[in-house]
Amino acid sequence: MVIAIDGPAGAGKSTVARAVAAALGCTYLDTGAMYRCVALAELRGAEHPERAEITLGDRVLLDGDDVTEAIRAPEVSERASQVAARPEVRRAMQERQRALLGSGDWVAEGRDIGTVVCPGAEVKIFLTADDTERARRRAEELGADVDVVLADQRLRDARDRERADSPLVPAGDAVELDTTGLSIDEVVARIGELAASARTAS
Ligand code: DC
Repeated sequence: MVIAIDGPAGAGKSTVARAVAAALGCTYLDTGAMYRCVALAELRGAEHPERAEITLGDRVLLDGDDVTEAIRAPEVSERASQVAARPEVRRAMQERQRALLGSGDWVAEGRDIGTVVCPGAEVKIFLTADDTERARRRAEELGADVDVVLADQRLRDARDRERADSPLVPAGDAVELDTTGLSIDEVVARIGELAASARTAS
């Protein structure tokens, strides 16, 4: 079974996806970390950063180097949003993601999982939250200024939504969940219910 969780930055995807994976015994796939690795490889001078060796798990490895923290730096976020618009990068990442999701039980988070990577996913969630709420959560995590985070977030959201290649849009059959004002537990419980009814239906 694949549970696809897509949505903009700061909607709570990572926290929710990890919790759902733990609750249901699925493996968690953070596809954003893959684009972040490509961005970091490029910042480090790789000529074909999309060919870099990426290993996901408790720690994220880029060509064998532990980059778990390095890929969260603001310059990597900015570059990731740029490399993610390039078709050759998307093809390479989507191919790797499909190979992983082809067998086993997964909770995969990203922007295009339900639309492009895994349109046959049994459960598709599009997680949103209002702009300022998302920026507030991110600023808290990073210890940064809310207004700066909000401005950066708007730029990157617009880039993700407006790119020609697999833009950030909800799949036609996705369930949209607005997490503004909801607790993590409430969101996880709702996705658990959807997964349970998808299991019953199949
Ligand atoms: O989810 P995140 O912030 O770690 O993602 C980093 C960047 O990668 C972000 O700009 C969106 C992009 N991304 C994407 O285009 N497609 C995905 N499936 C996952 C992330």
